[in-house]
Amino acid sequence: MPRLNLDVGRWLDGMQRSPVPSEPMVTHSQRTPEKARKLRAFGEVDTELVPSLAMAAGRALLWSQTGIAAVAPISSSMRFRAKRLASSFPFLVCRCPSSLVSTSVRCYNRPQSEVVSGELKTSGKEENFVLTTPLYYVNAPPHMGSAYTTIAADAIARFQRLLGKRVVFITGTDEHGEKIAAAAEASGSSPSEHCDTISQSYKILWKELDISYDKFIRTTDQKHEAIVKEFYSRVLNNGDIYRADYEGLYCVNCEEYKCFYAYSKVYTLRLLADEKELLENNCCPMHLKPCVLRKEDNYFFALSKYQKALEDYISSNPDFVKPSFRLNEVQGWITNGLKDFSISRSTVEWGIPVPNDKTQTIYVWFDALLGYITALSEDSEQSNLQQAVNSGWPASLHLIGKDILRFHAVYWPAMLLSAGLSIPNMVFGHGFLTKDGMKMGKSLGNTLEPMDLVQKFGADAVRYFFLREVEFGNDGDYSEERFVNIVNAHLANTIGNLLNRTLGLLKKNCQSTLPYDSIFAVEGNSFKDSVSQLVEKAKYHYENLSLSSACECILEIGNVGNLYIDKNAPWSRFKQGGASSEMAAKDLVIILEAMRIIAAALSPVAPSLCFRIYSQLGFSKEQFEAVTWDDTRWGELKAGRVMAEAKPVFAKIENNQDRDKKGSPEEGKNKKILRQGLVEA
Ligand code: MSP
Repeated sequence: MPRLNLDVGRWLDGMQRSPVPSEPMVTHSQRTPEKARKLRAFGEVDTELVPSLAMAAGRALLWSQTGIAAVAPISSSMRFRAKRLASSFPFLVCRCPSSLVSTSVRCYNRPQSEVVSGELKTSGKEENFVLTTPLYYVNAPPHMGSAYTTIAADAIARFQRLLGKRVVFITGTDEHGEKIAAAAEASGSSPSEHCDTISQSYKILWKELDISYDKFIRTTDQKHEAIVKEFYSRVLNNGDIYRADYEGLYCVNCEEYKCFYAYSKVYTLRLLADEKELLENNCCPMHLKPCVLRKEDNYFFALSKYQKALEDYISSNPDFVKPSFRLNEVQGWITNGLKDFSISRSTVEWGIPVPNDKTQTIYVWFDALLGYITALSEDSEQSNLQQAVNSGWPASLHLIGKDILRFHAVYWPAMLLSAGLSIPNMVFGHGFLTKDGMKMGKSLGNTLEPMDLVQKFGADAVRYFFLREVEFGNDGDYSEERFVNIVNAHLANTIGNLLNRTLGLLKKNCQSTLPYDSIFAVEGNSFKDSVSQLVEKAKYHYENLSLSSACECILEIGNVGNLYIDKNAPWSRFKQGGASSEMAAKDLVIILEAMRIIAAALSPVAPSLCFRIYSQLGFSKEQFEAVTWDDTRWGELKAGRVMAEAKPVFAKIENNQDRDKKGSPEEGKNKKILRQGLVEA
């Protein structure tokens, strides 16, 4: 019987390049999540059993002359690889129904003509979800404003993964230009040393915040330069780049001319941007610092040529800019008349040289926007624009702050049209985190340190607070008091306490073992319908990027659960015995199933907390990582499941008043009441 020992990563890589092998091949991944993610996996399988394969481990891909199949649960990166494989062969890939039981083995192996109802199909762009955050300037380490976009992006990425999409979540750092060179000089280091340090501080913060990015692009990466140059040449060949002298007022913090006049062969003098955006003394309204007068001879991008194309694009794609009130803003800019902008600098050394003109470097925005495309290319591959584009472009969603909307919703689409590339599906411009009404920012120095917040309160609290409290799209102000009140009320009380007291009662009365299937326990009970409706609503809100409303719906399941348990008082029913005791046991199963559903649905927002809930319910880490949105359906908890020892999943944060009360005789009394409450009420 032939056997195969395979390294999945190498095997899949090889498959993409080499011709179809004649032997059937089977593989399955090693089960540790870390390893699965990196695709450092192996398999040893009896190939004669293909395709009715019996396999012990959960994640698997198999290939034979007649098809490719994936065995659930399968990681998103494996799914992606499988899909790419399938697109090069005349086969279909399908995914088996998801299951938390990793030993379940269901393989499908079908010819291309068949309609496959699984989540993985070889065609259909909707299966991909390429999501980006802005590439952050490395003039200073990240602050809470930068973290905010990334937290939101992470929640969206995690939600899309739950839906079974092949997600590529891109983030990174924007490292060229005058502002970065100045910051490096001020810190006494070379630009590249400075960029290494600050870029690393972003990576460290993302780790602390549980950010599950797939690609981290630095605009100083070697592969990026080649792609920018290639793109520039395409735009040049399309006749959209010309040279002109100009002078104007420049905001270094925005890296943008706020108003300028240009002189060229085409026209002698032309105002290219409006002065009205500036405050007194030519101050930038965002950074409150005076703009500097600059006179240069640069290359320009003929944005004005794309006026009509952009108007048409936006009117036929009204969802391109979200929220809708930002679309009005974009339409306003376009109808006011698009002005060409300069895309090179003769005075800035720290940048990518303009092809065929070593005296100029490419304007930092023209360079940075392309990072979204470079990020798609594989590190191991020779960089090439078309190959990167083929790896997933266009992006499904650019998540940005409102201050950089013009670059993403006007300049960028025009640049892409010029280079013959597709425009991303959506640009979502969120609001600002403010302090005393002013945008929190590195330049104004009124920032909130995300690392301090994480260390003090934990990643779940930080993520939950900003996503729940700030209506995504609008501005939001931070106050520590509000932070503590919200996370205590929602995470510690509504969710944590409900789980804890239910598990306490189960331990006391049922030896921590579920006496019924949750489907059976809830028969004839409208509680299940309330939960299902809230889950549906949460899904709708996630899909529409209304993250706060999604959180609200999920929390409402907790509120409904608390009301239910308080009304039915299982602790009293257990004391009555007989049928009452059975009802009480069913109530506990019902609440625990609701907790499981909360954990699945809230996992995009508070992943560690939700994992803790899952593990209290007796699931392994691997099982939690295999959860999909389908698992928000009622019915996963079965009789006989043993719960873990009850531990608070979210420790209540002490607020100032609590601290003041500490040590007082009242406090001891309150603690006792609280402890009783955990188990009894
Ligand atoms: N480097 C450019 C983006 C290039 S994308 C190809 C840039 N960088 S930035 O570091 O200044 O800002 C990055 C993002 O952080 C922007 O979306 C910006 O809106 C966001 N935020 C910065 N301060 C913010 C707040 N106070 N609140 C919310 N987001 C804010 O622009």
